[in-house]
Amino acid sequence: MDFWRDKVVLVTGASRGIGRALTDELAHFGARLVLTARGENELELTASRISAIGAECVFMTADVQDEAAVQQVVRYGVERLGRLDVLINNAGVGLRGQVDTLEPALLMEALAVNVIGPLNFIRAATPLFKEQRTGLIINIASLGAIQAAPNIGGYAATKAALAKLGEALHLELEENGIRVCTAYPGSARTEFRNHALGTAYRGHEPRLSRIAPELVAKQILQQAAQGKREIYVTRKDRCFAYLARIAPRFADFLVGRAFRQTKGI
Ligand SMILES: NC(=O)c1ccc[n+]([C@@H]2O[C@H](COP(=O)([O-])OP(=O)(O)OC[C@H]3O[C@@H](n4cnc5c(N)ncnc54)[C@H](OP(=O)(O)O)[C@@H]3O)[C@@H](O)[C@H]2O)c1
Repeated sequence: MDFWRDKVVLVTGASRGIGRALTDELAHFGARLVLTARGENELELTASRISAIGAECVFMTADVQDEAAVQQVVRYGVERLGRLDVLINNAGVGLRGQVDTLEPALLMEALAVNVIGPLNFIRAATPLFKEQRTGLIINIASLGAIQAAPNIGGYAATKAALAKLGEALHLELEENGIRVCTAYPGSARTEFRNHALGTAYRGHEPRLSRIAPELVAKQILQQAAQGKREIYVTRKDRCFAYLARIAPRFADFLVGRAFRQTKGI
């Protein structure tokens, strides 16, 4: 995809899962990469794999909640690679648990990673984008932001907040040549559930989908390059999002039935 050639792209949560798949795909398309996550070893492994296929790549560890560290990552990327064209806010954490017993502290923690983290990167990157009069921000939300399901109310709330921030940001920055798009992936085959906050996921718990992270990455990059503002990984996800908007009670019925059938709640 020519769109990505020579673009400097900052990917958060690049050390595993969807972030790592995005990184691999971007490297193949000829992008130049700034990678970040907290764990140095996994991040270094991703960076060396990328460098081995000839892609230009720098990395720096940071917790997305730490505004000073985030500013440092953006500064470092620009110092090393000369500019920044695209920010992909991918780092995120799950939160499992029924809403009536949800610990407020856990919800605050998830909000700090899934909402304040991306906001920190947006605040660090947009002055550059405004100066260049061009830039692209891709926020990775979740299908759960559109259709809630049992046990993911807290998580879905954080992703719905991220999606709304992105929608407003697009309206605010469009005239500066800056585009903002939001991806709404369904359930992907990553370690996401193992790292989630709250009560542990059960093995048989239903998923609306179980997609390979490579497919998620491919679709996000392809549709962002095409200028889409809302990105769905599969046609089924797109149809489900549409259904949830036009017939929310029917969508609730389908989700509720899927959970009852597998005793997910
Ligand atoms: N997997 C799914 O089913 C699914 C579905 C829809 C949306 N999503 C969203 O897609 C994104 C990627 O998910 P994934 O499935 O790839 O999850 P994952 O395998 O758990 O990877 C999460 C990534 O985020 C980084 N990260 C987590 N907390 C961080 C923090 N405080 N500061 C900096 N980096 C942090 C992790 O690295 P460190 O731990 O080393 O920091 C890791 O690189 C998330 O935003 C998630 O909400 C996932």
